[in-house]
Amino acid sequence: MAEVIDGKSVAEDVVSKVKALTADLSAKGATKPGLAVVIVGEDPASQVYVASKSRTAKECGFHSLQHTLSADTTEEQLLKIIGDLNADRSIHGILVQLPLPGHIDAGKVIQTIAPEKDVDGFHFINVGKLGTGELDTAFVPCTPAGSMLLIERVRGKDLSGLNAVVVGRSNIVGKPMANLLLAANCTVTIAHSRTRDLPALARTADILVAAVGRPEMVKGEWVKPGATVIDVGINRIPAPEKGEGKSRLVGDVAYAEAAKVAGAITPVPGGVGPMTIAMLMANTVASAYLAAGLKRPSF
Ligand code: GUN
Repeated sequence: MAEVIDGKSVAEDVVSKVKALTADLSAKGATKPGLAVVIVGEDPASQVYVASKSRTAKECGFHSLQHTLSADTTEEQLLKIIGDLNADRSIHGILVQLPLPGHIDAGKVIQTIAPEKDVDGFHFINVGKLGTGELDTAFVPCTPAGSMLLIERVRGKDLSGLNAVVVGRSNIVGKPMANLLLAANCTVTIAHSRTRDLPALARTADILVAAVGRPEMVKGEWVKPGATVIDVGINRIPAPEKGEGKSRLVGDVAYAEAAKVAGAITPVPGGVGPMTIAMLMANTVASAYLAAGLKRPSF
């Protein structure tokens, strides 16, 4: 059976380190890290994520600010708020929760965030830095950054010569994940819905990352014996066995079968999920260190 990678415990280690770094920053007389989270509309899942981000920010000792805006907020109003946050010296990180309502151009909103406060790592400047290997100054998107820490716990920092397959090509996870694995010297393939013979390709992977948003798509037979399997998916599916109208969370990997073959695997929940918020805190404290003219801490 595979080693179960405990994302909750690694995330707690990251948050502890963030708390210590925040205390050090205050001791040096610098401004404490400030994180602004902006949510537009009433999407229930987004509300849960945002509440959790704001709560963890407070727990870390940050200045935590949340803008909760109604679904009919105009693009102009939102851009004005971002402009104000860009200019606010008490704020080091700005996160606009996605998705945004259809009448707002999400791309335009993201590109309006000052790159040095873009703790989501979605601005073209940060995407470009990651793509060119400027990892010392880039903000890397939180979910792939957190997945990478989990991979390092199993495989170490240098992944030279390992084959990595990333299933999914989103800008938020798949593409940045592939770039991080490439920077760590993996041979990387990005697979997607048009890939031929995905099971055979997946079986070549020493590191297999699933980020497609399809419940239990990656089967046990797709996994190379001993592989490290990182499941980024969080899918809610009906669970009539728990009672009428009940549901449960599953990943993009058929966990029970894959765990019989893999060397190490992340569970859902309790794998990548907790890492996303932890890395948001890590990016925000890093931004505050840079704003204070101090060396950026690493995780
Ligand atoms: N919605 C789902 N994941 C994310 C994320 O990582 N950042 C933001 N801003 N919105 C999201």
